[in-house]
Amino acid sequence: MTLPDFSINSPQKQWHRFCELLWFDESLKIWLDVSRMNINAIDLNRFAPLFKKAFDAIDDLESGSIANQDESRQVGHYWLRNSGLAPNKGISDKIEKEIERIHSFANKIINGQLKAPNGKNFTDVLWIGIGGSGLGPLLIVRALEMSGNPLNIHFIDNVDPNGINKILKDIHDSLSTTLFVTVSKSGGTPEPRIAMEQARFRLESIKGNWPSQAVAITMVDSQLDKLARKECWLNTFDMPDWVGGRTSITSAVGLLPAAFVGADIKKFLSGASLMDNLTRNHDFLENPASLLALAWWKSGEGKGSRDMVILPYRDRLEVFSRYLQQLVMESLGKRLDRNGKLVNQGLSVYGNKGSTDQHAYVQQLRDGLDNYFATFIEVLTDDEEIKTINNRNPGDFLSGFMQGTRTALTEAGKQSVTITISKFDTTSLGALIALFERAVSLYAELININAYHQPGVEAGKKAASNILGLKEEIIDLLSDRVSRSISEINDLTSGDNSESIYFILRHHLANNMNYNVKGNWSKPDTLRFKLN
Ligand code: PA5
Repeated sequence: MTLPDFSINSPQKQWHRFCELLWFDESLKIWLDVSRMNINAIDLNRFAPLFKKAFDAIDDLESGSIANQDESRQVGHYWLRNSGLAPNKGISDKIEKEIERIHSFANKIINGQLKAPNGKNFTDVLWIGIGGSGLGPLLIVRALEMSGNPLNIHFIDNVDPNGINKILKDIHDSLSTTLFVTVSKSGGTPEPRIAMEQARFRLESIKGNWPSQAVAITMVDSQLDKLARKECWLNTFDMPDWVGGRTSITSAVGLLPAAFVGADIKKFLSGASLMDNLTRNHDFLENPASLLALAWWKSGEGKGSRDMVILPYRDRLEVFSRYLQQLVMESLGKRLDRNGKLVNQGLSVYGNKGSTDQHAYVQQLRDGLDNYFATFIEVLTDDEEIKTINNRNPGDFLSGFMQGTRTALTEAGKQSVTITISKFDTTSLGALIALFERAVSLYAELININAYHQPGVEAGKKAASNILGLKEEIIDLLSDRVSRSISEINDLTSGDNSESIYFILRHHLANNMNYNVKGNWSKPDTLRFKLN
């Protein structure tokens, strides 16, 4: 390959780079262009042995090695769309059986074979899950939902009392025909548990029967699984131990909502599987995932020093940047590498959609800091029902805006990747997701980190539980109606937590009027608290 240097700014040289680096697959009709990223001829030799090692590691991972060593777990999301790859027949049979169960259950809900306890068809689904158990389903629904879908799908992905209340009020009139799907791999995450309790309370307060309207997606034997089995919930689906939350979209976590919106889950899986095949190519210049990983590495010097801005030019992909934010940042954002060396790795991701963002932050992308690279996602086929009016077609404008922004960024010396999809549908969504999953896996190999654990998330969960424990201690202490300052409370409770005590009491008192507070909130040392 003769590749003109990235720094040479001439239209002919850029065209040459485009022709040399363009990747296209006929079966999926997807193009990837990394020619506007800082990749040079010298990199083609330099990265060849690094990718060889990375491909070997991914081959091992796919054949069932313990790739997530810190948690002693296999990493099997690639098996979900090609069960024949699973390390044993037990796992592959289970994957196939689960796909059939999901398909059949969703069909029965949609066509009314399975009815709500009042004898009516289910009208709504309330999806309760956070992180990987919430974002993938949200992406699926927003990307694939068609108008006229018989089920209205709602999401609770937080413990914001106001957010929970709004959604439960929105569905109040259809609570008795709502299917409640609680999703938690571990089955013990507080956010979905608390949201589930709230939803259950609302249903039971109109005399509804929770178990006959409830579904769980979780690991076998988790707290949630045990509850669902004990109470004989309407159904439970398995989230295998070897599937991570942020790569669970091709398990029941993504397939069930896909089936609820009438999408063909087999096409979704086949799109992912086709892309998986293409990204198994050990020739790194013929593999779209390694081309992406190389582009990411080169742009941020393997340290993530440039952010990835996702600009999909399709409203249906609006959630994709949030989805990728979790996939990429939770996988790559690591303090230590696999040798225990302090590396503070990561790759920041943000974005929304084009051309809308053109009227928001694209100003800075063009003229401001050179601390990012853009990832354009273009869809060629427009909507046949949209007419050309006054010689103007919205699709032509969208394409023009995409190309205009891409050119403007290049002219300003900014880097960009362009992914082009011929037709946006269930298959291409599966392929797009699989492309990024594999790019993350390969990039993680290049920088030698474990992409499959999330110690930072676990640390956050532990810290929150400590705060909730401290709150119980404080409330218990103040129940004797003695007036106390923060420092006195600190002396009488475990740990040294003055600032946390201030935060806890400020929140608690905003919601409980039966306390007397003396002093000045801007001078925390002067405050004294007493239960009336
Ligand atoms: O990717 C991950 O592992 C996390 O983001 C989880 O999805 C998230 O913490 C929710 O966990 P769980 O599904 O166990 O409730």
